[in-house]
Amino acid sequence: MNSAKSAAIILFIVCFAAACNSSSTLTTNQAQPLASPATPVAAATATPDPFAEAYLDFQKNCQVCHGEKGQGGRVEIEGRKLKVPSLRDGHALEHTDEKFVKQITDGDEEMPAFRDKLSPNEINDLVRFIRKELQGK
Ligand code: HEC
Repeated sequence: MNSAKSAAIILFIVCFAAACNSSSTLTTNQAQPLASPATPVAAATATPDPFAEAYLDFQKNCQVCHGEKGQGGRVEIEGRKLKVPSLRDGHALEHTDEKFVKQITDGDEEMPAFRDKLSPNEINDLVRFIRKELQGK
């Protein structure tokens, strides 16, 4: 193959690639005005309360035993009398995040395991919720 011919082929390929590129850039540009309004809305609903979801998880899964504010106390659940510790003070202040995560994931004597109900992320968020909203840390 002579060099002029191969140069022409290369030039052709480069032009072709550039044309492809610019046309795909065009399509993304056109799509952007449609896509962008969705982003600020999603961000706006996420920002006001970073714990909104964790709070819902708490209400749904934990409140029956630990109480609305995590204060604990004596509760009767399905015929069993439990003495539930406060998540706001006492031992709960000293136990590490890792211990909390393990306790929520695997359960304990009377505390049910949540590994099948909550994802590791949801459990981490719950621990952060307990620290910030219940313990004020
Ligand atoms: C059936 C009642 C019950 C439910 C529901 C429950 N817990 Fe517990 N939880 C307990 C009891 C009782 C203990 C004390 C340890 C034990 O006896 O198992 C405990 C202990 C804990 C501890 C350790 C506290 C410490 O002092 O270290 C954490 C953290 C905790 N629970 C978080 C949660 C979270 C988060 C949820 C919801 C996802 C939840 N619990 C749901 C009964 C419950």
